[in-house]
Amino acid sequence: MDRIRIIGGNKLHGTIPISGAKNAALPLMIAALLTDETLILDNVPRLADVALLQRILGNHGVDIMAAGKRPGDHEYQGQTLHISAKNIIDTTAPYELVSKMRASFWVVAPLLARMHEAKVSLPGGCAIGTRPVDLLIMALEKLGAEISIDGGYVIAKAPGGLKGATIEFPKVTVSGTHVALMAATLAKGSTIISNAACEPEIADVAGCLNKMGAKITGAGTPRILIEGVAKLHGARHTVLPDRIETGTYAMAVAMTGGEVQLSGARPELLQAALDVLTEAGVSITPNNDGIKVSRNGAGISPVTVTTAPFPGFPTDLQAQLMALMTRAKGASHITETIFENRFMHVQELARFGAKISLDGETATIDGVSKLRGAPVMATDLRASVSLVIAALAADGETMVNRIYHLDRGFERLEEKLSACGATIERISG
Ligand code: EPZ
Repeated sequence: MDRIRIIGGNKLHGTIPISGAKNAALPLMIAALLTDETLILDNVPRLADVALLQRILGNHGVDIMAAGKRPGDHEYQGQTLHISAKNIIDTTAPYELVSKMRASFWVVAPLLARMHEAKVSLPGGCAIGTRPVDLLIMALEKLGAEISIDGGYVIAKAPGGLKGATIEFPKVTVSGTHVALMAATLAKGSTIISNAACEPEIADVAGCLNKMGAKITGAGTPRILIEGVAKLHGARHTVLPDRIETGTYAMAVAMTGGEVQLSGARPELLQAALDVLTEAGVSITPNNDGIKVSRNGAGISPVTVTTAPFPGFPTDLQAQLMALMTRAKGASHITETIFENRFMHVQELARFGAKISLDGETATIDGVSKLRGAPVMATDLRASVSLVIAALAADGETMVNRIYHLDRGFERLEEKLSACGATIERISG
């Protein structure tokens, strides 16, 4: 199993290109199931999760062609995928595949909307909490699906097709909103989604669906209106930049000190996180090419932060912020409200000498003047990268084990960081 070795202490200087967003690319690829024409997606990040979803879609009969690089393409430019779901040969998504990636469960929506049936394995448990799918099932039932659960599979049928409805989510859910949105595009009549998730990835997917002929308004707000259409067609769409990758590298620079241009980043996608960094004493300067992040001389000030749905502080940056606050001058408080078990990084950060105590949903981090490198291991994607951030500022060597988590969501992490002066290498095997 690959590992990453980091020798801490170097400031970061240079440019980091921001990749396409994983959490937009995945639902965009799934949306290709809604049409028998080709969907072309540009700026798709090269990630393990994207490769796995290609396999899952292939199982349904979807053809995916990755276009090669053209002369003049930037080294880090994402790949272009030509996705054709002309012939759906199988409406079952098996346990062996769905259990490896939770988002693949979302195929239930386009399969049901277009093929009027789907049999999809319930997603497996996940290290960050129980993560049920009750609200996704509720949304599909509102749209007229008959749903049963048998042998660990959700069996969904809509013999006469889905019908528009009002779907009111009792809590904000990104997965529920994606599923409701995709399913409603081909439902008869109009659908209102209220208390919808406002995450930028929802608006990105809705923008692509509209290019495919859907009639969606209000995506990116809590109330989305969808006028169902009989058929969707092919389109071309560019995946928006990854706000979580942006915030992660911003926190890495905040941690080590130095100055880095996050090229292609869009500040409005993560304003809450940038505001927290500013409060912590980091200089954030949006410019034509993205965002410049620097911290020179000044130490890190402690902050009090609560995670919340967009536009609040994202849960997907909570672990990284906690790593940063281990070096703050004083006590920080971070409250996690989205997932009940997303503190698995706390015990690993303690291996660097961090002082963190947990009380229910709130972590108190007492900043220390020094972290020391250590062998560490992570349980989920964002937790893994928080260990990388700690290691970049720790004295001596850190070995991060189980980095397949990192490969699921960070494209060429070690290349991007070493290009800015970090001592970081992947050790194979
Ligand atoms: C998406 O997960 C992201 N994944 C997550 O990113 C992200 O942490 C999360 O949204 C919150 O922003 C993708 O986009 C692929 P939810 P999702 O439905 O859609 C509860 C990462 O690291 N809930 O908004 O699964 C749920 O348990 C990943 O990239 C129900 O109770 O999140 C949670 O407490 C990790 N019933 C809350 O809602 C349901 O049926 C929010 O979950 C569905 C969700």
